[in-house]
Amino acid sequence: MNDWNTDDLVAADKRYLWHPFTSMHDWCAPDHEPLVLVEGHGAVLRDSRGREYIDGNSSIWTNIHGHNHPHINAAIRRQLERVAHTSFLGFTNPPAIELARAIVKLFPANTLNRVFYSDDGSTGMEVALRIADQYWRLRGSGRDRFIAFKNAYHGDTAGAASLGAAAMFREGVSNWNFPALQISSMTELEALPAEEASQIAAVVIEPMVQGAAGIQLWPAGTLTGVRNWCDRSGALLMADEVLTGFGRTGKMFACQHENVFPDIMILAKALTGGYLPLAITLLTEQIFSAFAASSEAESTLYYGHSYTGNALACATANASLEIFEKENVLEALVGKIDALRSELASVRELRWVESVAAVRIDCGSGIANGSRRKTWSRRVPGRAQPRTPNETDPQRDRLDATFLHHALAVAPGRSSHRVRDRRGLWRKRACQKW
Ligand SMILES: Cc1ncc(COP(=O)(O)O)c(C=O)c1O
Repeated sequence: MNDWNTDDLVAADKRYLWHPFTSMHDWCAPDHEPLVLVEGHGAVLRDSRGREYIDGNSSIWTNIHGHNHPHINAAIRRQLERVAHTSFLGFTNPPAIELARAIVKLFPANTLNRVFYSDDGSTGMEVALRIADQYWRLRGSGRDRFIAFKNAYHGDTAGAASLGAAAMFREGVSNWNFPALQISSMTELEALPAEEASQIAAVVIEPMVQGAAGIQLWPAGTLTGVRNWCDRSGALLMADEVLTGFGRTGKMFACQHENVFPDIMILAKALTGGYLPLAITLLTEQIFSAFAASSEAESTLYYGHSYTGNALACATANASLEIFEKENVLEALVGKIDALRSELASVRELRWVESVAAVRIDCGSGIANGSRRKTWSRRVPGRAQPRTPNETDPQRDRLDATFLHHALAVAPGRSSHRVRDRRGLWRKRACQKW
């Protein structure tokens, strides 16, 4: 049954809300009816008019086990019966302790073994920057500059946005930018004069793939190269696994593809399986001990939020990690990746066509938790238009467009492709080899 009053909801949304990364002028235009998402089961979302969509971008790369997963739902209910939130400043709680233990156990001893909680990818990055900066001051070093890679995206808080080299995330806030040097390759990193290298507090990288830049794969060996450079120059290596963490690249963490351990790793998005906001900044004992060595005020990290260590979010993350074991998620990925690879084989040869590009994708292999076959076509530079046998509805294309975007973005063999940035502008991007 569909008892939502869509017209009223849309009118109230336009009257009272402000959406992120969105031209509110266009959003509020009379002919724009946003999708009102009301339900999700597995990979399928339903809107207030009863239409269904494949959650093609996993609700901004957060959802990994599907919507409404019974194990996570039960864990949330159990924790709710106890308490939803208590202060982490001066107190602790069992789900936060258990989660820290479980996360640290995912890494070999003496690598990453301290957990600092915050609320989302941006704040996870923000505290990582603060820790790195203070760490060097505690060690009496003048290292206070960060290196990030061009087109990287590390979040929107002032520090994270200073790193994010994609100019659109920094526009209008240039006075807030912290010292960060943007480079585009290992070659540039290697060419950095020794004097400049000695000022670097940390190199920050999205390991294996730059996500928001349009799913740009790094050449194999890049992470190892950056690790080696950091070891030689003494800088910390900071791996932003906000997007890649928790199986997104086929392994639990993208760093595992090159067997590299950073000094700081940032986790968010899929940490709670896509249910609740939570981030972890994971650190080596070496960094932690610089702070723990003294009770002086200057050795204390003055950072934290009201919801730090939120018990409900931590219980959710614990349940998500349990699913990895219960359902052999990583092992099962192998078959899904093979299925996707073969389904997308035809896209391999796709060349950009200025008028129409069409991709046919079979989502019935278990990946999408359903057996649907859709044919996608796309007008350039218009939005993707899904075509199902009985229905052509321009409102359906928003989530679907993202799916197509990713399919095209990873299509190998093309020298370039066009992607939409978060402001909806089309940009031409060079393709990496598959
Ligand atoms: C690599 C990376 N880092 C950080 C962030 C920021 O995370 P959040 O949106 O949770 O603040 C994102 C978001 O897309 C991301 O992809």
